[in-house]
Amino acid sequence: MESVEDTRKVGRRRFLGVAWKVLGVAAAAEFAAVVGTYLWPRKGKEGAGEAPLLEAGPVADFTPASVTAFPQGRFYLVRLADGGFLALSSKCSHLGCTVPWDEGTHRFPCPCHASVFDMTGDVLSPPAPRPLDLLQVTIEGGVVKVDTAKRIQRTRFEPSQVTYL
Ligand code: FES
Repeated sequence: MESVEDTRKVGRRRFLGVAWKVLGVAAAAEFAAVVGTYLWPRKGKEGAGEAPLLEAGPVADFTPASVTAFPQGRFYLVRLADGGFLALSSKCSHLGCTVPWDEGTHRFPCPCHASVFDMTGDVLSPPAPRPLDLLQVTIEGGVVKVDTAKRIQRTRFEPSQVTYL
């Protein structure tokens, strides 16, 4: 005949067994969710809930030799002196700090490790290993649009990267 103490031990053992199984299933589900997120990332994650094609505005709103920040899209729209457009990621190509535009020097100085980029995003001072990433610019009906879904890595600035009206 089982004592009350024996019955408690069996009950505790059964409870712990069930608890371990529940924790095991939860851990397996969590692992599957992490692997699933890695293998099938959500589209447009860069823009976090916003449409990937961002309307920057009419061409006339951007004067030549100007830089306009679009913090919601995490990029700068650069209008070069010749009227062409470039959209530059505001994320430093070194370790990802946000680079500010310095109107005084016409450069992007990174506050983290002192990399400096020129108006086309080219590296003037390392440690940044490559220029600021590009975003695709299109001009439709006189309106500048920027695709925020894709960041294009490049090794240097080339004139073919500029979009003209
Ligand atoms: S993150 Fe910009 S220089 Fe290091």
